[in-house]
Amino acid sequence: MIIKTNSDGFIHPGSSEVTPLRVYQRRRDLIRQLAGGAAGVALGSWAGNNASAQQSLPGKLAPLPNAKSAVAGAVTMEKVTDYKDATTYNNYYEFGTDKADPAKNAHTLKTSPWVVEVEGMVKKPAKYTLEDLLKLSAQEERIYRMRCVEGWSMVIPWVGYSLSELIKKVEPLGSAKYVEFITLADPKTMPFVGSRVLDWPYAEGLRMDEAMNPLALLSFGMYGEVLPNQNGAPVRMVLPWKYGFKSAKSLVKIRFTDKQPGTAWNKAAANEYGFFSNVNPDVDHPRWSQATERRIGEDGLFAKKRKTLLFNGYEQQVGQLYAGMDLKKLF
Ligand code: MTE
Repeated sequence: MIIKTNSDGFIHPGSSEVTPLRVYQRRRDLIRQLAGGAAGVALGSWAGNNASAQQSLPGKLAPLPNAKSAVAGAVTMEKVTDYKDATTYNNYYEFGTDKADPAKNAHTLKTSPWVVEVEGMVKKPAKYTLEDLLKLSAQEERIYRMRCVEGWSMVIPWVGYSLSELIKKVEPLGSAKYVEFITLADPKTMPFVGSRVLDWPYAEGLRMDEAMNPLALLSFGMYGEVLPNQNGAPVRMVLPWKYGFKSAKSLVKIRFTDKQPGTAWNKAAANEYGFFSNVNPDVDHPRWSQATERRIGEDGLFAKKRKTLLFNGYEQQVGQLYAGMDLKKLF
């Protein structure tokens, strides 16, 4: 397989990987047609033309019909991870610590009604229902490469819009320097909330300029459908230049603050998981190297590990946020 790294920082595939991408693009065309209101017609002709029609909505969940095309720079040409892999190999500790647990257990999560409270240092604090949030800005589909701190990666077509759209609406005060993300911790529906692995609720945070970066996605769906519970339904963050644990699932609060918020994994092991947690092949985890990664779905005996890229390959988009910072100290 030939892999070329272009000046845009993305890995572009050799010809052997092009076919799955085309299949994928047809799926995206379908979503665009749905956005145009031709749902029935589009679905019919898609099904007629393609034997693997159900691939278009692989999880058979509700479609997110208003997704438009992706923003420039957010699309990778790499093969999209199979839906099955992306939805059965998860970290969602509220539902168990094994990668297979969330898919088995998260059916108990009740995602409707759902409210996200925006509070703290903002001019317009508000409680947004999920429906309000869905309407707040145009949905886009963005194919992001995701890198877990444990050394594996996936490529996922997310649906949502930049968090900055919401931030602009609520007007943070000048004194607000950080955004804190607080997620649901409901012991009745989440069997592992209360376990001592982490401090609940699972919380995460970003510096304000990171939160305003267009790449920071407030996501409601993946593969053209609403998020499966195990992937953080009904609304989560997606931060492709950071290790996966920064992307908090099932958000219930977004809080603006002047102090760096405590975060779940940093509280659990500060020497292993920093506040920034930008993907960085040159900064090892104390217990393992971060220089390479295993792409989920490329598991064959001879599958080579991939080199991990600084900021997960999104240096052009986010590098300036960290200019002058010692990334080894502020990991
Ligand atoms: N959010 C909550 N609320 N609870 C979690 O345990 N796990 C994180 C992150 N968000 C987690 C979470 C970790 S470690 C990762 S790698 C990603 O979610 C995994 O997202 P995915 O299952 O959609 O790939």
